[in-house]
Amino acid sequence: MIVLVAVSSPAAAAESHHAMVVAEGDLAAKAGLEILERGGNAVDAAVAVSLALGVTNSGSCGIGGGGFMLIYWAKTGRVYGLDYRERAPSAASATMYIRDGKPAEELARTGPLAVAVPGEIAGLDAALRRFGTMRFGQVAAPAIKLARDGFPLSPHMARDVSLTATTIAQDPGFRAVFFDAAGSPLKAGDTVYDHNLATLIERLGDDPVKNFYHREIAAEIAAYLKDHGGLLTVHDLASYAPVWRDPIHLEHHGYDVYTMPPPSSGGVVLEILGMFGPSHMEGVGVDSPPYLAQLIELMRQGFIDRDQYADPAYVTVPIAYLLSPAHLAEARANALHRHNGPALAAAHDHGTSNFAVVDQAGNVVDVTTTINTIFGAKMMIPSLGLILNNEMDDFSVAPGVPNAFKLIGSKANEIAPGKRPLSSMSPLIALRKGRPIFVAGGSGGPTIITGVLQVTLDSLDFDLDPERSVAEPRIHHQAAPDMVFVESSMPTRTTDALRRMGYKVKLVPELGAVNAISIAPGELRGAFDQRKGGGAVGD
Ligand code: GLY
Repeated sequence: MIVLVAVSSPAAAAESHHAMVVAEGDLAAKAGLEILERGGNAVDAAVAVSLALGVTNSGSCGIGGGGFMLIYWAKTGRVYGLDYRERAPSAASATMYIRDGKPAEELARTGPLAVAVPGEIAGLDAALRRFGTMRFGQVAAPAIKLARDGFPLSPHMARDVSLTATTIAQDPGFRAVFFDAAGSPLKAGDTVYDHNLATLIERLGDDPVKNFYHREIAAEIAAYLKDHGGLLTVHDLASYAPVWRDPIHLEHHGYDVYTMPPPSSGGVVLEILGMFGPSHMEGVGVDSPPYLAQLIELMRQGFIDRDQYADPAYVTVPIAYLLSPAHLAEARANALHRHNGPALAAAHDHGTSNFAVVDQAGNVVDVTTTINTIFGAKMMIPSLGLILNNEMDDFSVAPGVPNAFKLIGSKANEIAPGKRPLSSMSPLIALRKGRPIFVAGGSGGPTIITGVLQVTLDSLDFDLDPERSVAEPRIHHQAAPDMVFVESSMPTRTTDALRRMGYKVKLVPELGAVNAISIAPGELRGAFDQRKGGGAVGD
């Protein structure tokens, strides 16, 4: 067994022959490996990692949230997509955040009205029942142990606690878990005990959907939210269902690239890849200004087209058209025209979590899961240890109004009862000649789209290994603001060249986090992103 948890290099990697787990948390990655070593497959391990991350990275994800799972299944040679994104409560409406005729965005970010119906447990159960070999209670064991016996607070989580301390200190649930007896926030390395969360996961037993969505736990969640002025009801919980969706696909330079369809933003990643065309990268270097200028323009166009994305049950998203050769050619041409959006400050958030698993049988899973921004709605139901998401902020609070990530609200993504909010989460699996050769996914709001894109381009087109692909300095452009965010690790001569080309450049310390694994027969290489920390473990 190889276990590698690096703390000082820009990215950290592991190599192995048979199986691998890469996650934004070394303890969660080890939970996945433990399940693989006990004979579980990649989906069993993925459920274990999800639950463990919900304990150790509870600022980013957990059973109060939801996610997307992309699965390559070796037996059928097919890719499957599972959407367990949260849904708006049935009492939600397009005008629910309008007060005195004006949008009150903060209500969608913090507090009871920010909370959408969680999908995490329903999704994990659906994946396990379709592809897993183990009982829910078995794969939940590592997470229960971590929550009950305690785990060291990671530097990343310590930062989450410190950034939100003033707000979460007001909440009795958070106070009991993340603050010491004197009321000071816990620091990196301090042991965190989350006994109520351990008990909650244990109570899910082997029938987590019945136990979470239909019985006492559902009643406790609904009663707590009602008491605090929320909308979510037992009926909303009981009617939640995950959706198996056909992944979307693009042939890119000899690779078959698969990702999640809407309400994911996987299509935006594919559209930007598609706009590169067959020979547009010849002779350019990975950090070269001509390449980056092209990437910036294509990112901008991809985000402009993202305005058409939303929950496909409510809006017809023209995904086949957006990925058609005719549109890709037209979009590439449009990308050469500048589009000036309103100037806004950069959004910076490290919520959401991603991981990837490859098992001995060659099955591949990538999961991105979230409670949205750090600690979601900043509410924990203390008796359950359940942190509530603020996924309602991923909807348009009102057309034209930016959300926490400064993404401008579109009409397509307006709120409706039962609707899923548009997400930036974009898990991706690439095949060559029918075999999976690469998997990637990321966290960090809209920088997921551009981060997964760049790591994929670096791996597939520039032939960099996962460690180097993940470590390369990244850029981000999301159409509005009309500004290129560039990591400060980018060579100065490159940044200067972009400025000379007329781009408004804003240097930022880091842009999201991406995990990747390259897959060759008997040779797996995985890298987690040192920007957020994590673990890569193999067998
Ligand atoms: N909540 C972040 C996302 O889904 O994009």
